[in-house]
Amino acid sequence: MKLKFSLLVSGFILLTLAHCTTTKRSKGASEELNSTSETTNVQSASGLMADPNLMMVEANCTGCHSAKLITMNRFTRDGWKDKIRWMQETQNLWDLGENEKVILDYLEKHYSPESKASRRKNLENIEWYSLDQ
Ligand code: HEC
Repeated sequence: MKLKFSLLVSGFILLTLAHCTTTKRSKGASEELNSTSETTNVQSASGLMADPNLMMVEANCTGCHSAKLITMNRFTRDGWKDKIRWMQETQNLWDLGENEKVILDYLEKHYSPESKASRRKNLENIEWYSLDQ
């Protein structure tokens, strides 16, 4: 009787484990599928975040330098505007016209200090504790 019971229990545990690993795996696969259809948080070949306006940004912002100069930076909308003005005044960047707003939208969305693409903000108000060894 006892043996039967423990067999039943271990069978149950095995089943649960098997179930967990298979559901995890299938979840991973569906996440992968989702990420190809979703437009945010996916990087394009240039390394810039995928977005409906990616082409416009690539066309205007990757001709003179690598997209890395963008992806390595985080600025506010005003900060990006300042960079654009600086490039226009000193680096022969052309007038972006009406595209400027779209480009700034993109930069603000993906490369602002708070955007998901960036590192998370620094933690605040941490109560540090010391490790007693
Ligand atoms: C006409 C050429 C040109 C175009 C087009 C251009 N840039 Fe630049 N950009 C430069 C040059 C030159 C530098 C300085 C590179 C260096 O310091 O090595 C620069 C530097 C930068 C930097 C670094 C600034 C810093 O302070 O470190 C960023 C960010 C940047 N560009 C973003 C952009 C964005 C966004 C666009 C699209 C709106 C763009 N660039 C389009 C020429 C250009």
